Amino acid sequence: MANEQQKREVGEEEEQVVNPWEVTAKDGGKIDYDKLIEKFGCQRLDRSLVDRVERLTDRPAHVFLRRGVFFAHRDFNEILDVYERGEKFYLYTGRGPSSEALHLGHLVPFMFTKYLQDAFKVPLVIQLTDDEKCMWKNLSVEESKRLARENAKDIIACGFDITRTFIFSDFNYVGGVFYENMVKVAKCVTFNKVVGIFGFTQEDHIGKISFPPVQAVPSFPSSFPHLFPGKDQLRCLIPCAIDQDPYFRMTRDVAPRIGYQKPALIESSFFPALQGETGKMSASDPNSAIYVTDSSKDIKNKVNRYAFSGGQDSIENHRKYGANLEVDIPVKYLNFFLEDDAELEHIKKEYGAGRMLTGEVKKCLIQVLSELVERHRQARAAVTDEMVDAFMAVRPLPNMFS
Ligand code: TYM
Ligand code: TRP
Repeated sequence: MANEQQKREVGEEEEQVVNPWEVTAKDGGKIDYDKLIEKFGCQRLDRSLVDRVERLTDRPAHVFLRRGVFFAHRDFNEILDVYERGEKFYLYTGRGPSSEALHLGHLVPFMFTKYLQDAFKVPLVIQLTDDEKCMWKNLSVEESKRLARENAKDIIACGFDITRTFIFSDFNYVGGVFYENMVKVAKCVTFNKVVGIFGFTQEDHIGKISFPPVQAVPSFPSSFPHLFPGKDQLRCLIPCAIDQDPYFRMTRDVAPRIGYQKPALIESSFFPALQGETGKMSASDPNSAIYVTDSSKDIKNKVNRYAFSGGQDSIENHRKYGANLEVDIPVKYLNFFLEDDAELEHIKKEYGAGRMLTGEVKKCLIQVLSELVERHRQARAAVTDEMVDAFMAVRPLPNMFS
């Protein structure tokens, strides 16, 4: 999307690119998250907010919070104020069903959203943008709808509470007040504005240019009359990776102009590609990604063959200098998925000092990921078509706030 011409126009030559369609670091380097916070104008999620979450929910913060995987936010403190006063909010997240199988990066926001739902006991809406992927990936309408249902099974397998969760696909659900809200948003956003935010060009078809309101309006409770009747000012919190921020910058800009609350956001860094932190794990490059459908053998092969190592080139040098943990992908991955803080610290210390070798760290990672993927496989196998229908039924959620 951000082609050379646009990069020049916004003075971004050789800068990192982060938008919903492309994540690349400045040539060969790592994504600079501090710079993103500054450029996007979001806030850093600091330790005091994490402490506050622990106090309010009366449970330890999720690993992704404790370890700074979720590192940025917009008005998350206001959501906590609301909650502290005894009022409620709702959660909104989503997935663009572009592939049959999710990869580990996709699980990050869903695992975290599940934790938020359990900790705050709030309702959740999950948007499957089958229309988006139909337009961007040149999939047929039928195929996009099929992928949406397949992806819904992986999402349900993350353990969401059916009494508090509504999953919808755009092709099936858009209409009614949802559509009225889309039109209200669309009227507030000029072509120049979306070009500035998303980098659309004159050659992009108008389907793409008119899509952003579809992702915007689930942020407004009135888009769900079967869930939140008469609760037009209910606050919304969106967990997602920071690549989705452009949609919600636009949404927050428009909200007050049409009489709605701005959605709050809690945003994660990217689960990196096996090859290193220059980009996000992406479904479009199979060798960069570990899928939830990979076998233990696949995982072992991919980690051993592709995971970028910060270890030294010879055992002698490794013992002497230790591993460079800053670039080491196995350590990065363990930071996401090895829950035991003491074990993680031990590995970092020993590996960083050269007493532990890359092979040993990779072995540990292979075990952690194999267990995670196997748990997911079993949970997904238990999800029936009836369950998908039940999660996607347009229905009231009677006890969603209790
Ligand atoms: P999609 O399907 O590209 O991604 C779904 C969610 O996964 C996050 N994500 C990642 N997180 C960590 N590491 C990665 N490597 C990684 N890759 C993807 C994305 O940020 C997203 O949270 N247009 C959206 C669908 C959508 C949506 C939303 C997302 C509609 N409404 C509201 C978030 C919030 C999409 O195609 O996501
Ligand atoms: N736009 C996202 C994608 O390209 C999918 C998505 C839709 C989403 N709604 C969302 C992601 C809300 C996070 C939160 O995959």
